[in-house]
Amino acid sequence: MPYDDLRDWIRALDRAGELKRIRTEADPILEITEITDRVSKTRDSQGALGGKALLFENLKGYPGRTLLINQFGSARRMKLALEVDSLDEIADRIRAFLDVKSPQGFLDKVKMLPMLAELGKFFPKTVPTGPCKEVILREHFSLLDFPILQCWPKDGGRFITLPCVITRDPRTGKRNVGMYRMQIYDERSTGMHWQRQKVAAEHYRERLRQSVPAEGGAARGAVDIMARSSGGAMLAAGDRPSGRMDVAVAIGTEPALTFSAIVPAPPDVEEFIIAGFLRQKPIELVKCETIDLEVPAHAEIILEGYVNLDELRAEGPFGDHTGFYSLEDQYPVFHVTCVTHRKDPIYSTTIVGKPPQEDAWMGKAVERIFLPLMKLTIPELVDINLPIEGIFHNLMIVSIRKSYPGQARKVMNAIWSLGQAMFTKCIVVVDEDVDVHDLADVTLKALNNIDPERDIQFTLGPVDSLDHASRLPDYGSKMGIDATRKWSSEGFTRPWPDEIVMDSKTRAMVDARWKVLAKELE
Ligand SMILES: Cc1cc2nc3c(=O)[nH]c(=O)nc-3n(C[C@H](O)[C@H](O)[C@H](O)COP(=O)(O)O)c2cc1C
Repeated sequence: MPYDDLRDWIRALDRAGELKRIRTEADPILEITEITDRVSKTRDSQGALGGKALLFENLKGYPGRTLLINQFGSARRMKLALEVDSLDEIADRIRAFLDVKSPQGFLDKVKMLPMLAELGKFFPKTVPTGPCKEVILREHFSLLDFPILQCWPKDGGRFITLPCVITRDPRTGKRNVGMYRMQIYDERSTGMHWQRQKVAAEHYRERLRQSVPAEGGAARGAVDIMARSSGGAMLAAGDRPSGRMDVAVAIGTEPALTFSAIVPAPPDVEEFIIAGFLRQKPIELVKCETIDLEVPAHAEIILEGYVNLDELRAEGPFGDHTGFYSLEDQYPVFHVTCVTHRKDPIYSTTIVGKPPQEDAWMGKAVERIFLPLMKLTIPELVDINLPIEGIFHNLMIVSIRKSYPGQARKVMNAIWSLGQAMFTKCIVVVDEDVDVHDLADVTLKALNNIDPERDIQFTLGPVDSLDHASRLPDYGSKMGIDATRKWSSEGFTRPWPDEIVMDSKTRAMVDARWKVLAKELE
């Protein structure tokens, strides 16, 4: 049965022995980060990383409040969150949908009915009310009433780190749910750190474009500056576009929905539907009190508000998942108009920093789930690995079934054109017989197989906003390494050596005698 809400999920974690309740007092300022960071990096008796999910029940300065962290922070918990034994089960379900052929006759059509019925389970359902409305605060509220973390010593302040940020596409009306951190400025306003390539940033730009006439001259130029701004390009008062964009934020939702907020879905696919697909039950939504958006009915905390189209403010620095601080930059400001929450709301959060931490396991789940979708446009793809220390956008190892010259480079270009995979700083392409998850095998074969000057491909393009080494913010170079066997049709005319493999007869003979030998070798 899918988890109804965060509380149901916490009970499941507890039953599975995956939750620790911390009754010792802990401070949301720095201390919880230090504790959680240590837990994220511990291994259990089987060597599995990630410790337990932590429910802090005694928070310094917040009597009666509780805080959940590290809920997704291990391979096991990530599977538990999505209710599967293996993440490949989800990939298989996606594949089954993609495999649909046109029905040949009546019987084929009948066979499709269960699949069509299942489709109905994915779409969100708007309901009259829900637990997130147990307390409605239109006037007397303060963000400082929640135990929001300051994660690292040089952070610009406290940050909401696990929010589901909901916006609406002004053109299509479709909703987006994205996870973008929010720096607390004061009781009622925060930063809104949607990076410029993300879907909510495009919704914001579209609202900006709509706020001035197409032939708008100076105002149009102002919109372009606002839309482009990430370096403090502030505008003269007369040139500022006017208007606002509604934004809602849900904190502490059913785990499939929190996870869906980080999924790099195509802009036109609502994450509410992805969450419905993952949990095989619709997400229930309720209407906001003060803005025109719907929010998850079972969330612990809802923040309703807006961003002004003419307002940017310094955001950051923030200790990020790169292991470094992301620097201060200009982002829109979120103004809260209403807070609704459950009675005794549980504040759900995470920390990012030097890997491995909780987000590593969320990223790994994205890697597995996206493989069948990547194969739609890159059919020669066999497998991918985004090693955790490569922080997802720095390194992707891909194996391919190579059938024609230059195919490794074609694959690199396809990846650099594919949604958020465009940020990948280094792509290593190997042949299908290399296990991309075996980094020793990848290192051995990739480095043996390359003539660096010949096999490294550089390109320029968009890079992750968190890349602190690129020549400009958001723009820089990327590298692909063609580590496949080289063919004569690719200009390689020398003989290619065989890989060393023992013959099966000798292996079987040693296998048969191994028990005796092993004793002698002890
Ligand atoms: C814990 C966590 C924090 C994140 N913070 C941000 C952030 O502050 N800004 C951002 O643009 N992306 C952030 N991301 C990545 C986005 O959530 C991710 O790119 C997502 O696909 C964006 O949604 P969208 O495609 O609907 O824009 C974060 C991811 C995680 C796991």
